[in-house]
Amino acid sequence: MYDCILVTGGAGFIGSNFVLEWIRHEGSKVVNLDKLTYAGNRKNLASLKNDPRHIFIRGDINDFELVRETLAKYRPRAVVHLAAESHVDRSILGPAEFLTTNVQGTFHLLDEVLRYWKQLPPETRASFRFLHISTDEVYGSLGPAEPPFTETSPYCPNSPYAASKAASDHFVRSYHSTYGLPTITTNCSNNYGPLQFPEKLIPLMVVNALAAKPLPVYGDGKNVRDWLYVLDHCEGLRTVLAKGKPGNTYNIGGGHEISNIELVRTLCRLLDELRPNARLGSHSELITFVTDRPGHDRRYGIDSTKLRRELGWAPRESFESTLQITVQWYLKNQAWVEDVQSGSYQEWIALNYQDRGVSGGA
Ligand code: NAD
Ligand code: TYD
Repeated sequence: MYDCILVTGGAGFIGSNFVLEWIRHEGSKVVNLDKLTYAGNRKNLASLKNDPRHIFIRGDINDFELVRETLAKYRPRAVVHLAAESHVDRSILGPAEFLTTNVQGTFHLLDEVLRYWKQLPPETRASFRFLHISTDEVYGSLGPAEPPFTETSPYCPNSPYAASKAASDHFVRSYHSTYGLPTITTNCSNNYGPLQFPEKLIPLMVVNALAAKPLPVYGDGKNVRDWLYVLDHCEGLRTVLAKGKPGNTYNIGGGHEISNIELVRTLCRLLDELRPNARLGSHSELITFVTDRPGHDRRYGIDSTKLRRELGWAPRESFESTLQITVQWYLKNQAWVEDVQSGSYQEWIALNYQDRGVSGGA
């Protein structure tokens, strides 16, 4: 009783890393509720196939009856909410799903969790947590000389994705202020690492470079992102769950800001060393500047001082070493890459890159 956690979106990139890491470090049971959209992949969790500590339920967070039954049956001591539509470019081409999952889905989940939480015994009620995973994109875009975002930076979302996450953050906040639900929100920067779907910058560049396809850099490539290694992020989430204060928000960043073009050049250098292509002088010859993303935020930077000072978290390894681990993971896991590139992936690539001036898409 009350010894498991419920994770939503645990078959996605961060979610599957989180579930694997949770079982490795905490060893207790995880109930994983995931709709298995294009971004969810049960193969990410193949190593847990016969492990009784992982219970997978295919379902939608908007299905409040299923959420209610799941809470009643497994009686979790915490909910870690990662389920979302997560890709900015998809939100530009089809924003409706972002409203449905990120806003309405979070609302339905919150409402069912509140109902469940209210009838818990007092001690369990006091220690219960609803951990909501959000993004630095809710804060908008920074100028080159501005200090990084803190937990008190104003919300200023610019993409439909960021707006949907901002709305969900506000609902989470309101469920704490109004009903006392012990919620915590984390706002993290761009994650990278194993198991990331190759629609996002780093894995897209790696898989395209390996296939000697163009590396589509939006605009002038000088947009800056802060990069967070996914396993550092997972450790941050476990820390916040264990020690964070209800009603608080915590920023989680890698502390490594870099422009897209510098990052893509670094990836090309790594691939030149790890998997040289005799026909190309360097993979960087594949770099192609393409039409920019509309509303493209210029810079994200995140200040994680609060999490470091109050809860003692910091990234463990350097950006360089974890980027290399990431590239090596994609080199070693070609079967995984081929598997996720089948089906609707090619349609997405054709759709997103067709009007950007890069032939044959990425
Ligand atoms: P992802 O797209 O890889 O995975 C999302 C998962 O949610 C998938 O498994 C999908 O099947 C599931 N899902 C989608 N809609 C659902 C629904 N209605 N019901 C149940 N499951 C559903 O995303 P990710 O990169 O792992 O991101 C996880 C969370 O972290 C998201 O909330 C995202 O906004 C946030 N985040 C991600 C990043 C990043 O760099 N990846 C950065 C900041 C914040
Ligand atoms: P992305 O991985 O989509 O994450 P986010 O939009 O959440 O930051 O993109 C990271 C950066 O890389 C962003 O500035 C957009 C840029 N980008 C490209 O230049 N080319 C691409 O093909 C993609 C997918 C992204």
